[in-house]
Amino acid sequence: MADVSPRERLIVALDVPDGPKALAMVQRLRNLVQWFKVGLELYLAEGNRIVEKVREQGYSVFLDLKLHDIPNTVAGAVRSVSAGGAGMLTVHAAGGPAMLAAAQEAAAAVAGGPKLLAVTVLTSMDAAQLAATGVCSSPGEQVLRLAELAHEAGIRGLVASSQEVARLRAAHPDSALVIPGIRPAGANAGDQKRVATPASAIADGADYLVVGRPITQAADPAAAAQAILDEMEAAKR
Ligand code: C5P
Repeated sequence: MADVSPRERLIVALDVPDGPKALAMVQRLRNLVQWFKVGLELYLAEGNRIVEKVREQGYSVFLDLKLHDIPNTVAGAVRSVSAGGAGMLTVHAAGGPAMLAAAQEAAAAVAGGPKLLAVTVLTSMDAAQLAATGVCSSPGEQVLRLAELAHEAGIRGLVASSQEVARLRAAHPDSALVIPGIRPAGANAGDQKRVATPASAIADGADYLVVGRPITQAADPAAAAQAILDEMEAAKR
């Protein structure tokens, strides 16, 4: 995606409690970015209305619902939200091969349906957090294993941390790599564990960066977004 502008590769996470706050943030960032991410907090409060409202203003929506249930239920959920116009939708790769295949089949059956992204290991998890769930592989090994499952199910989008992006780029050149856990140098990591700067994630092969609090909680969100866009542009060269 080297020829695609940073404006189309930076996804701002609208992790706010309601529609008015989300739309106010969209307004503050107008024309700076193309993609906004609607996650569980906002979606459960507003439903598909918020997807429609953000799209009406000309933006693309990444619906981050991280679906994880039995195959039949996830396929139904994918069908329910697919008509809403989101461009990307997440499912948890840990749901397993049958769930991933059912999700992909359901998404592919909807004309203009979203691109599915498989969430591998959350960026808030380090080796200790992962081990506590019974997974004894390192985060890196587990990400690669789950990415392979998603690929075998026909899914061509992956969410992982910047620590795995170079290995994923090599293993899955045909998949879109969407990377959260992005922190400009000196920024607070918050609950994120596997973090990197915008420049290093882009240099390692990320297609899209997901950034929430470093932009939305900045005193000047537009200036914070612009600084990240500039860093992404410089990293492409
Ligand atoms: O505020 P911050 O930049 O940490 O926000 C990151 C966003 O990316 C959050 O909305 C979070 O839900 C999402 N995300 C993540 N790690 C994943 C998948 C999604 O942090 N593996």
